[in-house]
Amino acid sequence: MSDQKKTATLTVNGQSHELPVLTPTTGPEVVDIRKLYAQAGVFTYDPGFTSTASCDSTITYIDGEEGVLLHRGYPIDQLAGKSHYLEVCYLLLYGELPTAADLEKFENTITHHTMLHEQMQYFFRGFRRDAHPMAIMVGVVGAMSAFYHDSTDINDPRQREIASHRLIAKMPTIAAWAYKYHTGQPFIYPRNDLDYASNFLRMCFAVPVEDYEVNPILSRAMDRIFTLHADHEQNASTSTVRLASSSGANPFACIAAGIACLWGPAHGGANQACLEMLREIGTPDRIPEYIARAKDKDDPFRLMGFGHRVYKNFDPRAKVMKQSADEVLELLGIENNPTLQVAKELEKAALEDPYFTDKKLFPNVDFYSGIILEAMGFPTSMFTPIFALSRTVGWISQWKEQFSDPQHKIGRPRQLYLGETERDYIDIESR
Ligand code: CMC
Repeated sequence: MSDQKKTATLTVNGQSHELPVLTPTTGPEVVDIRKLYAQAGVFTYDPGFTSTASCDSTITYIDGEEGVLLHRGYPIDQLAGKSHYLEVCYLLLYGELPTAADLEKFENTITHHTMLHEQMQYFFRGFRRDAHPMAIMVGVVGAMSAFYHDSTDINDPRQREIASHRLIAKMPTIAAWAYKYHTGQPFIYPRNDLDYASNFLRMCFAVPVEDYEVNPILSRAMDRIFTLHADHEQNASTSTVRLASSSGANPFACIAAGIACLWGPAHGGANQACLEMLREIGTPDRIPEYIARAKDKDDPFRLMGFGHRVYKNFDPRAKVMKQSADEVLELLGIENNPTLQVAKELEKAALEDPYFTDKKLFPNVDFYSGIILEAMGFPTSMFTPIFALSRTVGWISQWKEQFSDPQHKIGRPRQLYLGETERDYIDIESR
């Protein structure tokens, strides 16, 4: 984005202002309004940041019209098909695909940091026994800053790197333990001879009295779910992480903020909300009723797992996820599951309905991920924690990138004030 020659002209109150136009390597040009307030004394208004770039980045590129998602230039379908999660983590963090030696070293580092400080067990035990795993994750990840003091100095690049590795390595253990705690089962420790996805599945499904034999097809599907959720440029949770970090907060606090944001049903919570909706619909004959509700302006109900802020054609992650769902369901022999039947019929009905096609509302990644996770045996409460563990690398990569940005400053949006103008305080007896 070096082309400073192009400009845009903005006329405010009869006065023209020249604004630089920045050219990205790909995608729409960006009008640089950084000096607008100083020049023209006006702010811009963009709730939801629908037209505003909050930073520059070299990590992920999305073309929502064409359904393109690239990490460091590599298309998501190639990464999901040919690569695996830890290699994608390396790519996101360091910018290039690793050599065999680099990958071995990285995998070894991550594998050897999966254990949690033993004292953290007691922290888990402080939660109510039926706490939602996302509630536990927000708390435990935030609390890491109280357990790992030696990696909270954000001005030390080595400490930043250690914190990054710790978060990627420990997140599956945290998510699995949040699940175990939530279900009242004993914690299962990580095992260094297993790959990242298999280790997570085993920590979730093994019990001390019976080990869990990891099926390679399920492990591959799990790894693909991690890969497909690894990063998604400046979405709500990533922007939350960047904003939290802009004040100089420590990495564990920033990632905890990202997890909290992800929990919402319009973002990462959609996979849980989607499965719950499918179960509530229950049988295909009730689909028209729910479609009608989704179209009714006076009803707040939305079809969960449909629509996306950026993808207005199709979600490229959903394509890969759908294929993965078919593989897993075939392997497990559960093609006739009632929830799945409702999902298939609902997808068909929505794709044939002009309300959804005209508004470009297509199934998103969360529509299919929930189906796979349910088939694997995860309760809906674990869907968003799995998203959070997958997205951790994206949050960290964006957090890391922020430190190399010379323009970096504390995030501080402005507002369009519509409240009262100055008025005098009225004594309570006179109100
Ligand atoms: N069901 C019914 N109508 C919808 C839906 C839906 N799922 N999504 C959007 N619309 C309608 C909406 O009512 C509006 O209609 P109108 O123009 O008549 O007022 C129009 O489509 C545009 O909606 P919007 O809310 O302005 O669009 P947005 O880009 O702000 O919202 C979204 C994107 C993902 C929040 C929204 O589509 C939604 O709530 N979807 C359901 C939740 C969901 O599946 N979220 C997961 C997103 S993918 C994973 C992730 O990135 O976290």
